[in-house]
Amino acid sequence: LGAQFGDEGKGKITDLLAEKTEIVVRFQGGNNAGHTVIAQGKEYKFHLLPSGIVQNKRVLIGSGVVLDPRVLRKELDQIQWKANLGIDPRTHIIMPWHVFFDSALESSRGKEKIGTTGRGIGPCYSDKANKQGIRFCDLIDQEKFRNSAEKIFFQKQEIAEKVFGQKFPFSFEEVFQEYSQLGKELAKFNSDVSVELFSALEAGKSVLFEGAQGTFLDLNFGTYPFVTSSNPTVGGAFTGTGVGFKHVSKVIGVAKAYTTRVGEGPFPTELNNELGEKIREKGKEFGTTTGRPRRVGWLDLCLLRTANRFNGFTEIALTKLDVLCGLPELKICTSYSVHGKKVLDFPVEIEEQKDCVPEFISLPGFDFDSAIVKEFSDLPKTAQDYVKFVEKELKVPVKIVSVGADRKETIFR
Ligand code: IMP
Repeated sequence: LGAQFGDEGKGKITDLLAEKTEIVVRFQGGNNAGHTVIAQGKEYKFHLLPSGIVQNKRVLIGSGVVLDPRVLRKELDQIQWKANLGIDPRTHIIMPWHVFFDSALESSRGKEKIGTTGRGIGPCYSDKANKQGIRFCDLIDQEKFRNSAEKIFFQKQEIAEKVFGQKFPFSFEEVFQEYSQLGKELAKFNSDVSVELFSALEAGKSVLFEGAQGTFLDLNFGTYPFVTSSNPTVGGAFTGTGVGFKHVSKVIGVAKAYTTRVGEGPFPTELNNELGEKIREKGKEFGTTTGRPRRVGWLDLCLLRTANRFNGFTEIALTKLDVLCGLPELKICTSYSVHGKKVLDFPVEIEEQKDCVPEFISLPGFDFDSAIVKEFSDLPKTAQDYVKFVEKELKVPVKIVSVGADRKETIFR
């Protein structure tokens, strides 16, 4: 699970863990996520397919995901459709009007825009909640699909024209033809994810639940309204797949050694200066999905403490420690002053989240060569102290430390 605002480096960690896992399942979000996998010297970019796909694992898309079939087709083309994939029939489908309304709504917000990824995520989840969504089981059944799509299309078209004063750049027949063809191609992946997972878990098989986005983008617990429309916190893993928590042995929170955020919204430790720029360049902090530069700031323990409360992490994977190499002084936010009051957790209300003044401790910098660091003890003492400070404050062990993009540049403790 992402412990911050997404982009914590979950892709690398899940790819590593997928090696030792029989099934990898995604439970929320859609193609607003993104990760790059390098395997056998080839680079793959995925937004929707779970990690583990290039390792030929059984990969599943749970009912909590919103699925854009056009995107899925492109990703499957990359791997010549060699995929051991299952899609839950209850999974909601992102239709062209969802993408249309995502951008129409953002434009209507003017200065108060959220900075969404523009992939139709929010409108699709809204229709799901409004009980007017199209599910995978509808998409793969021509007659059901025509019936439900027809009703929704013309209502949405009216909203587009009357509320937003815009015409759809597609007709019903065009959408129907294209999507029923996609339905035909994807039908073979139909599988009840809940049933599959339950029997695998009962048989003692290992399953990796792969979170997308991060805790503070959670629809319930994030920096609302600057959030995504799903639950990247731990409960999403269960409501988004259809199994209980009886078999869960680990809840891994993935946190970057500093903090980043894409899109608008509160960010107390943000570095709006040359140093922030330097970390952004060194950490290649540009969105995988939209290419937008990520906002950068110091590590924030108030965020992580709160993320730990929401998720119950049993361990932390701390990523991109190498990006901090060479800085003479490192800061970690240990508390905030909110209207003169010291607080240790991330506040609930957006006004307070915006008014937080971070209180830092300062730690000495470090430098190391990631290529030769194999064990935790190979790190300089100052780098070890940085990691130990985090685990002492959170009272959660940091079991994985990532010191580079390569799989080999990972320390397991
Ligand atoms: P949406 O998910 O496209 O609706 O975007 C809502 C907010 O979540 C925006 O601030 C996005 O930048 C952010 N967001 C969505 N997905 C990701 C992600 O995978 N990483 C980081 N930020 C994301």
